[in-house]
Amino acid sequence: MEKLKITGGRRLAGRVKIGGSKNAALPALAASLLTGEKVELDNLPRVRDVRTMLRVLEQLGARVEAGEHGSAAVQADGFASFEAPYDLVKTMRASVLVLGPLLARHGRARVSLPGGCAIGERPINLHLDGLERMGAEIKLEHGYVEARADRLRGATVAFPSKTVGATENLMMAATLARGTTVLQNAAKEPEVVYLAELLGAMGASIEGAGTDEIVVEGRDTLGGASHRVIPDRIEAGTYLVAGAIVGDGIELEDARLDQMEAIIDQLRRVGVVVEPTEAGLRVARPEQLTSQDLRTAPHPGFPTDMQAQYMALMTQATGTAVIAETIFEHRFMHVGELLRMGADVRIDGHTAVVVGPARLTGAQVMATDLRASACLVLAALVADGVTVIDRVYHLDRGYEPMERKLRELGASVERIR
Ligand code: EPU
Repeated sequence: MEKLKITGGRRLAGRVKIGGSKNAALPALAASLLTGEKVELDNLPRVRDVRTMLRVLEQLGARVEAGEHGSAAVQADGFASFEAPYDLVKTMRASVLVLGPLLARHGRARVSLPGGCAIGERPINLHLDGLERMGAEIKLEHGYVEARADRLRGATVAFPSKTVGATENLMMAATLARGTTVLQNAAKEPEVVYLAELLGAMGASIEGAGTDEIVVEGRDTLGGASHRVIPDRIEAGTYLVAGAIVGDGIELEDARLDQMEAIIDQLRRVGVVVEPTEAGLRVARPEQLTSQDLRTAPHPGFPTDMQAQYMALMTQATGTAVIAETIFEHRFMHVGELLRMGADVRIDGHTAVVVGPARLTGAQVMATDLRASACLVLAALVADGVTVIDRVYHLDRGYEPMERKLRELGASVERIR
């Protein structure tokens, strides 16, 4: 199994290019199933989850052509199957995003239930309830969702709580439904807005993406489109934290201030200097980092996907920070590993109390999920001595090779077996 070996204590400087957003790319690829015409996506991140989604599409019968610089063209003009099998879904839950498009275009889909994962139970009941309201017949059998519908019909779906994935799945399904669909209490993440833009370019009629209520007028067919994936605000946020703890001036090329307000506001409260530049954003380590409490929340709040990295920052700040995780029930898996590196963190239910600054020391640690891995990389950059992070495949699911990007900034990082 591959590991990352990081020798801490180096100051980082220079420029890093932020890749396309994983969580925008995955639904965008699923959306390509809504048409028989070609959907071309540019700026796809070079991460494992994107490769997995392309495999899901291929095994459904779509033709995938990989282009240069992370572009891919998908054409779903013939279907080999209507099934997203367990083997693929278990490695990537976002495979359930093919459910809405398959059902809307073909009237049937068979998708493995994803089951729980390291960060929480993560059921898909809200996806299924919404599709049922749109007329789908849904059965759960043998660990699979079997869904059928002659043609989905528009409906009003009021989500009882915010959900990014169900908002995206239903928005895609609604584009080909008969009549009008209203999604109330919809998720407002930039990735939802991006998906609506792509669907619009494919000929869908969608209003209100980015607000609590999205209205979709169903169409008989959608067409192809060519679209550029937005930059990854979580990758950018992760490098902002690197810049805050060990940076001598790092420029994040392509990072977009307008999609990262909650992250940047929080970092500025801590004392981190973040400034827009022509190419993106620039971050520098301040004289002193001051601990600040944090509560994760759906957009426009502080994203749960940055909570672990923020905790790495708080180990280096002066004072006590109370970090509340409100989205996923088990998203403190990084804490045990941070303790092994010398951090002072106490968990109390859904909150973690971090006392800093702590002198971190290199250790052998284990990555448990994507963002927990990023937290450990950040901690290792500031720790004394050598840290070896095992199970780095978690990191590769959602980050373009970090050893390459960090080395370009001057870090001592290598991938070992
Ligand atoms: N939930 C339900 N039932 C549902 C759907 C969600 O109870 O049917 C619950 C979840 O268990 C969770 C909360 O609602 O407690 C929010 O889940 P949401 O549906 O918003 O999450 P998701 O769509 O499964 C996406 C991202 C996650 C990110 C969350 C929250 C993708 C592919 N994944 O997941 O990204 O944490 O939104 O912003 O977009 C990551 O990139 O590391 C990652 C986990």
